[in-house]
Amino acid sequence: MSAFAGKRILLCVSGGIAAYKAAALTSALVQRGAIVDVAMTEAAEEFVGPLTFAALTGRQVYSSLWDAPESIPHIRLVREAQVALVAPATADIIAKLAQGIAGDLVTSALLAARIPVLLAPAMNDAMYNDPATQSNLRTLRERGYEIVEPESGFLAERETGIGRLASEDAILQALETILTRTQSLKGKRVLITGGPTREAFDPVRFVSNPSTGATGIALAREAVLRGADVTLILGPTHLPPPAGVEVVAVVSAQDMYDAALGRAQEADLIIATAAVADWRPEKTSAQKTKKGEDDLDVRMVRTPDVLAAIGERKNSAVLVGFAAETENHETNARAKMARKHLDAIAVNDVSGGRAFGAQTNALTVLWGAGERRDLGVASKEVLAARLLDCIKNDVISD
Ligand code: CTP
Repeated sequence: MSAFAGKRILLCVSGGIAAYKAAALTSALVQRGAIVDVAMTEAAEEFVGPLTFAALTGRQVYSSLWDAPESIPHIRLVREAQVALVAPATADIIAKLAQGIAGDLVTSALLAARIPVLLAPAMNDAMYNDPATQSNLRTLRERGYEIVEPESGFLAERETGIGRLASEDAILQALETILTRTQSLKGKRVLITGGPTREAFDPVRFVSNPSTGATGIALAREAVLRGADVTLILGPTHLPPPAGVEVVAVVSAQDMYDAALGRAQEADLIIATAAVADWRPEKTSAQKTKKGEDDLDVRMVRTPDVLAAIGERKNSAVLVGFAAETENHETNARAKMARKHLDAIAVNDVSGGRAFGAQTNALTVLWGAGERRDLGVASKEVLAARLLDCIKNDVISD
């Protein structure tokens, strides 16, 4: 059965060119069995008429606080719905939500929402990249709003850039993740490693890799939303850590090892997503190395393998690793799983620069003697949810 069947969804449409896509989205939701209430801002009505949404949903469309005041629509709409989706979410509505400005029906309803709210931003790339918009999105994320990132591509200004409304598929996947989420990790202690590590050879130079920590952050967020008590040991990244998570910021592989080993003993589930540097410069100089005419030889020595060390001391915790592979993916990953005493391993293909820093990813989970589940191609947020489902339903119950 469709995850949407019988579900009440509040679709808030704000005033951007992508508002026309909200009509197709409404139809897709209705076809999947959802009961959709549409609320529009005044600006949205400049782009699409409320009649379109009324015909598609078979329901009244709301745009004013003053339409049916006796039923207090801004409160009723968010009480009756299981999830609110803002698509498109313009820079204006994102700024208003971040500030708690509630001058119309849509912003008032969202301010009163105690249900999950999913934002699908769409705007010009300069507006999207503006520090004000980015800071507002960060604020909203920290407050628990979920975001389905815009895509890069052809914009209304006939230019190419980031800011196109996420695809219908990506929005439906993100909504499905929210609608099917349960408190399946309530009371569980989850330890996650994420991000790159930096191995310094002097105070201003280091060896590292392009990991942003997005996968670890997405998993930590999803685990919290499922009721877990989450600790995220996170290497250096510009991405903000999720709300409600204990974050231990580390720099080097040795720092990550020191932070992880003790905490691993207390955990019920450990997921290692970190792209730990495998080598570090043998010597680290306290002062900046002055450059002369000569080349520099730096001898690299092995760093500790954080996950293997946790695996050696494995108790009852479920241990899940990641394998970044460029060839012979499954064979290499299964060998890693055995070597590090893991219960399961999630494999991603990092050939051609894939996965690192990208918005979407493709994962396959391997466990047992020959079990596997393909989690498909999706955003890192959606894959995080699918991976936690797979661990709970397949890996643990096997
Ligand atoms: N890992 C770790 N500490 C390290 C290296 C890796 O905890 N020093 C963890 C990663 O977080 C991941 C798993 O081990 O969960 C596999 O990482 P990967 O880089 O794919 O494999 P490596 O063990 O480094 O092997 P190789 O580089 O030879 O592929």
